[in-house]
Amino acid sequence: MTSDGRTVMAYDSGEGGKRFLNIMKRVLLFLEPTDHARVRKMVSKTFMRRNVEEFRPFVAETIDYLLDNMEREGCADIVSDYANPLPITMIFRIFGMPLEDLPLIERWMKDFARRGELGKISPEVEHGGEEAAKGFSDYFRKQIADRRARPRDDVISTFVQARDDDGNHLTDDELIAMCVLIFMAGHESTSNMIAFNTFSLLRNPDQLRLLQGNPGIIEDGIDELIRYDASVHVAQRVGLKDVVVAGREIPAGEPCLIMQGAANHDPEQYDRPDRLDLTRGKVQHLVFGLGSHSCLGNQLAKLELRLAIPALVQRFPGIYLTVPQSDVRSCNTGLLLRHLKDLPVSW
Ligand code: HEM
Repeated sequence: MTSDGRTVMAYDSGEGGKRFLNIMKRVLLFLEPTDHARVRKMVSKTFMRRNVEEFRPFVAETIDYLLDNMEREGCADIVSDYANPLPITMIFRIFGMPLEDLPLIERWMKDFARRGELGKISPEVEHGGEEAAKGFSDYFRKQIADRRARPRDDVISTFVQARDDDGNHLTDDELIAMCVLIFMAGHESTSNMIAFNTFSLLRNPDQLRLLQGNPGIIEDGIDELIRYDASVHVAQRVGLKDVVVAGREIPAGEPCLIMQGAANHDPEQYDRPDRLDLTRGKVQHLVFGLGSHSCLGNQLAKLELRLAIPALVQRFPGIYLTVPQSDVRSCNTGLLLRHLKDLPVSW
């Protein structure tokens, strides 16, 4: 199976959707294997665990700020007050971008994501995608030129300075696609995961109390929380050769969806898979994918989750849902991502 340039053509809507497609063609997820390996190697150092640790003070500071705001209100919607602002603020901070640009980037992200949904798109969605692609391109082109002229201690500067084995830098178009991808891949998936992780604990009060009594169990426990109920359940691939899976033939070239969410509850892999058990020890799961395209930002995502979840339940020891569990709605964003509409709590 592959996720290279062949699947990106699913987004080809003709002349009217050119700008969007041009960014998508350079996005890591859809690069041909040789280009993918070259670009991924150039940027991956930035996202290694030991480098990501440098972001810890930013994450902790942002979490404190959000929790202080929530505490003043006396109740909160975890989705809009905590889970949504944290990852996007983090990307702004590590990219060294001014927070006043946040509403602009958020608007482009929304239009870009709508355009990126699979299936037939309306002229309005196509237009939104083009505007977002132009906005992103112009914005990041300026950021890149600025870092080239005056390198700083931020992630855009490390991308600009990265060299491949032949000493070449990434082109402007590759850099733009990388910046867009980090926002698109790094924000919503993490934000949704914070909400799902919180909901998982609220539904399992014994595990909530366990974590409150011993916050250190989050170190390994985070992978169990992620496995138990994840924001990404599905991956998109194209068959490289004819294969038979569970008695069904998938011909070469056929686009298909892989349900890694099902694998994360495989009874042959996990004892009582539908039980949340933060003491399971080291848990392997497929939430961050597998193979050459596996999630580049998984260490950053886990750092955010390892800090955000214990901080929330420590700050509000009596945290509880203010609506019945059955009213908490899990929805799909397009085909690939899941999110909670809201998660109202008090304490
Ligand atoms: C809990 C949060 C996250 C989840 C569940 C998640 C999940 C995934 C998955 C499943 C893939 C593979 C997709 C595929 O194989 O088709 C992926 C790829 C990717 N993710 Fe994440 N991700 C998360 C957070 C992040 C963050 C915080 C960043 C960056 C700041 C990030 C950056 C990326 C990138 C760049 C890729 C493409 C890798 C490649 O094609 O080589 N992700 N992610």
